[in-house]
Amino acid sequence: MIGLYFTSVAQNPEQLAAARARAQALCNAPGADTFVASPAVNFTGQPDQDHPEISLLTVLPAGGLEGAMLVPPVRQFRDAYSRALLGRVHDAIRPGGAMVVPFHAPAIAKRTGFWDLAWLRDVLGKETRVTDDGLAVFTRGPAALPAPVSVLSAFFENAPRLAQSHLARLQSGAAVDPAAYPELVAAAAGPAAGLRAAEAAVPDLAQGLEQFYAYITYSVTGTSYKAEAVRRFIDMYLPGKSGLRAIDIGGGIGFVDMEVLLTCPAVAHVLNCEPVAGNLPLTSLLFGHYRERLAGRYNVTVATAQDFAFAEPVHVIYDFASLLYVPREQLPATLDRMWNALLPGGLLLVHENIRRPLFESKSYYASVFEADELEGYLRPYGEIAYFRSSDLQPMKKQDTKDLTVFRVLQKRR
Ligand SMILES: C[S@@+](CC[C@H](N)C(=O)[O-])C[C@H]1O[C@@H](n2cnc3c(N)ncnc32)[C@H](O)[C@@H]1O
Repeated sequence: MIGLYFTSVAQNPEQLAAARARAQALCNAPGADTFVASPAVNFTGQPDQDHPEISLLTVLPAGGLEGAMLVPPVRQFRDAYSRALLGRVHDAIRPGGAMVVPFHAPAIAKRTGFWDLAWLRDVLGKETRVTDDGLAVFTRGPAALPAPVSVLSAFFENAPRLAQSHLARLQSGAAVDPAAYPELVAAAAGPAAGLRAAEAAVPDLAQGLEQFYAYITYSVTGTSYKAEAVRRFIDMYLPGKSGLRAIDIGGGIGFVDMEVLLTCPAVAHVLNCEPVAGNLPLTSLLFGHYRERLAGRYNVTVATAQDFAFAEPVHVIYDFASLLYVPREQLPATLDRMWNALLPGGLLLVHENIRRPLFESKSYYASVFEADELEGYLRPYGEIAYFRSSDLQPMKKQDTKDLTVFRVLQKRR
């Protein structure tokens, strides 16, 4: 059996057939069965209508596969998250089996920070073969790879417990009491009673779990580029600084926050301003995995952004896909409070989907910003710099159109 891993979800039948044939040839296993692996989707084992063969990377047994191929294009950064991902795939292969990994040419890798061959060698050892179109073949050694310090390692190790924790809460129907997580919940907790009541009312277990895994897939896969964005913008705009304090608006379970704290030495503390208390048991499990590194550095305030005072000055505030949930009539005052909380030289990082047909089927579509509308809310605070989502390269405003891009604003020093 050969596992195919697509880091981009856009697969079609032709792509799949081509990847299958290529993997069989390069893994030297003609005719071997193949299946598609993914970090988290479809944990419940229900057939996925788009990807009927999908399986879960978290539950792959160690050493069982003949080989594995990560299918290009791969736009992953040379970071701890990628080390954890590669390590997981590596460990699922039998010793002596083949692992096929795409890499970028040195010039592209240098500009973007994506994988290149030198970095892959550092993670996986010397390759046995390189193809003309940028695939390196490695042989799985006898030992498992060490788990790097990344929230993805914590996720892989704790996935069954995360699922159990979520299930237990749904079964009991109990709301999560933030008071049970004093280590994480900041004293400034806001009025979240209404949201807690809604959380308690999840009517159907299976549906709840499917929603949960769809969400956790979103959280896990987004962590890589969002954490890299925070690290890179800090390097770019606040070089040489340390002891930085940040607020994440709507950080969900906190994957990005914990990854930033674990992998960006400049950041001392992150506060996640997140209204859904139901995330706390999961946050707590992941936090517990790296307690020595995170203790005293991470808090959650169970509040909406519009209810939060932003009373403490901070160096960085980031919003990734959450400003759209702040009622529009409360958005200007909320943004004002955020901006006022930024120290001189501080950064506001915004990553919001922009209205386009791709998102039409989503439940939140009515709240998705038009590009001009979002610009109108942000422009009063100064010049906006634009960076492409995929490789974090700078963009001109006229090229951003309806793309989801990073918008960066820096407060005057
Ligand atoms: C699409 S998720 C994004 C999660 C995370 N920022 C990420 O990028 O992975 C939106 C998050 O915003 C939170 N949220 C919803 N309404 C909010 C509000 N009014 N203020 C702050 N956060 C909110 C949700 O609970 C959820 O965690």
